[in-house]
Amino acid sequence: MESTATILNIKKADQSRINQVDFNNLAFGKNYSDHMMYCDYVNGEWQTPQIVPYGPMEFAPSVKVFHYGQAVFEGMKAFKDDNGLVNLFRPEKNFERINKSSLRLAIPEFPEEYFMEGLKKLIQLDYDWVKPGQGNSLYIRPFVIATEEGVAAAPSDSYRFMIITCPSQAYYNKPVRVLFAEKYSRSANGGVGYAKAAGNYGAQFYPTNLARQKGYDQIIWTDANEHKFLEEAGTMNIFFRIGDKLLTAPTSDRILDGVTRKSIIQLAQDLGIEIEVAPVEVERIKEAARKGELKEIFGTGTAATVAKVIAFEHGGDEFSLPEMNENEYSSLLKKTLQDIQYNRIEDKHNWLVPVER
Ligand code: COI
Repeated sequence: MESTATILNIKKADQSRINQVDFNNLAFGKNYSDHMMYCDYVNGEWQTPQIVPYGPMEFAPSVKVFHYGQAVFEGMKAFKDDNGLVNLFRPEKNFERINKSSLRLAIPEFPEEYFMEGLKKLIQLDYDWVKPGQGNSLYIRPFVIATEEGVAAAPSDSYRFMIITCPSQAYYNKPVRVLFAEKYSRSANGGVGYAKAAGNYGAQFYPTNLARQKGYDQIIWTDANEHKFLEEAGTMNIFFRIGDKLLTAPTSDRILDGVTRKSIIQLAQDLGIEIEVAPVEVERIKEAARKGELKEIFGTGTAATVAKVIAFEHGGDEFSLPEMNENEYSSLLKKTLQDIQYNRIEDKHNWLVPVER
């Protein structure tokens, strides 16, 4: 291994794969950049992080992640500005959240220095994989998996933390149609809904497939007790606009504390948009839709950025959102967010963290 002045060991790829990628036609999460980072937890300690060429890893069939899903992940992005400089967007929030998720899954916390240094070094090495221009970004996927061999149902005593990155464009390339959940649930009080636990996502695949068969792209999950309150969309937090007021559910132990969600709330406040962070009743949204007062629904997430909803279904009733116009909040907030991410306007909340070339 080539050693560096940093806290990491680095082994560079002999040859870049960048020329094999069609950057104008990227399917989300299908192309991975040249390098990845990993760091093993053994004997009660995180070992020296390693950056190596992206590639397969070998694990015994008995490792615990395969049996008990002891795994957490993050989603974050780097953006290249018009001067060719790369910035990470609020990486400290993802660092804080992966450890919050880890705690809930009985995974040891990862050191901040390893996370930040590893991330920056990885992006420095794969700088050319971050393409400039509206909609382009490098999606960054940190994750931790349980690697102890043995199927006893108890926390693993060894783990692997990893970061892989992939060039990305829009997650949803058209407005989405959603179903408000009436039968299945994503999370419950005291559960893991607030954590980015791998199983939270896998558990949504079946009900989401059923929704797709009915012509809907996503489910907006409701509270598990009564299915009366709208919570989040699984890959996104969710916002509603009634009249000129924006509504979104408060975070709780059932709802992911989205980084894009909190950025959008801040930007809405900066723009003087009235925002109510309070439980959102299904009936209130349906009533507003019937009266023509429901103007917009949109989701926010790292991968999705800001995704418009054009229709929703609940209790056999389908509602269409009105035709979008220039004054829609989703477009304004998305543009403001992206102007910050691409370093086109003042970053007054200091959300960008530069990565040196
Ligand atoms: C993200 O937005 O980063 C997410 O984690 C959603 C993902 C499941 C695509």
